Amino acid sequence: MAMKQDTLITTLGRDPDKNHGIVNPPVYHASTITAPTLEAFREKRTRRGELDVFTYGRQGTPTHQALEVATAGLLGGDRSVCLGSGLAAIDAAMLAFLESGDHVLMVDSVYGPARRFCDSFLARFGVETTYYDPLIGSGIKDLIQNNTKIVYTESPGSLTFEIQDIDAIASEAHKRNCVVIIDDTWSSGVFFKPFDHGVDVSVIAATKYIVGHSDVMMGIITTKNDFWQRIRQSASDIGANAGPDDVYLALRGLRTIGIRMRQHDQNGHKLAEWLQGRQEVERVLHPGLSTNPSYEIWKRDFSGACGLFGVVLKSYPEKAIAAMLDGLELYGMGASWGGYESLILLTNPAQIRTVTKTQWANCGPTLRIHAGLEDIDDLIDDLEKGFQRLNSTN
Ligand SMILES: Cc1ncc(COP(=O)(O)O)c(C=O)c1O
Repeated sequence: MAMKQDTLITTLGRDPDKNHGIVNPPVYHASTITAPTLEAFREKRTRRGELDVFTYGRQGTPTHQALEVATAGLLGGDRSVCLGSGLAAIDAAMLAFLESGDHVLMVDSVYGPARRFCDSFLARFGVETTYYDPLIGSGIKDLIQNNTKIVYTESPGSLTFEIQDIDAIASEAHKRNCVVIIDDTWSSGVFFKPFDHGVDVSVIAATKYIVGHSDVMMGIITTKNDFWQRIRQSASDIGANAGPDDVYLALRGLRTIGIRMRQHDQNGHKLAEWLQGRQEVERVLHPGLSTNPSYEIWKRDFSGACGLFGVVLKSYPEKAIAAMLDGLELYGMGASWGGYESLILLTNPAQIRTVTKTQWANCGPTLRIHAGLEDIDDLIDDLEKGFQRLNSTN
């Protein structure tokens, strides 16, 4: 039966009939997995990587498989593999396609540690990286070299929030046989379907919205069958597999991601609109606002927004910003997002300038806000009091 997204989210990867009718799949703790005969042992080895073949804990268990099947279905891919962090998934996805002498086109607004992976790790192994403007679109064709293997995208970037024209980028990349990777954590497969836009490999920090409760580190790579063997092998070579208890928690989080994302979307939008009307605010970096330069592409390609966006303030001394942030009751100060709770972070303006080539005029102190699932009136009230402290400390 053709299923809509919310039905897929609650259904995929489950098979209660195989498990005494129990709704959720059990947690298999495994390193050693035995075979009854020599023939069965050999057969399992040769069929490694196929569904329902479990040979050793590092290659996953039925618990992993349940999450992987559900995530692949949500994204519209064929296969997924889960690793012990989002960064491990980024690294494994890139290493699946690279060798010494290759070139990577990396979006300039990319998640910082992925940038570091290129500039330090990959550079040491003779892989060169060129950073490109997130709004480049089909202009990417001028940057593709004969040795370019990967065009890496992150849409939107998690500090400056430009939405990339993935269709245009993928179309040019494929003309030159480059693999298109996306960090799709912002949408986490709910609001953007990467394979409908020409992406070859999706990477999601499941640590954020898939887990959804701020208590597990995990990354998931999803791809179509064409690239599956390379991705599977690379993930296995890296050896950073996710533990079964964490996988169970991620699967439990996934079951509610649809409804949670709708609430993050609603709260984030309302907060962004409210902030846009404040005299203390220079600009709100939320692609779902019609004033945002990315709005048209966001509306074309996305069916919603998560709770993460940026706010550029007018010029205020650090002391005043500290007074505003330190007294907040509902916004934790933490370098993450995607959980049920609201967060706020002062990002370094210098970092904003280096992570994007987009020219933002008057780039003042920039806050990154994660709108959680609290009541929106309380979230606004808390920030309102924060602005009072900001103004009275000025
Ligand atoms: C956009 C993005 N991608 C990837 C990651 C990495 O995920 P993890 O922290 O699970 O390694 C993060 C973490 O903050 C992120 O924000």
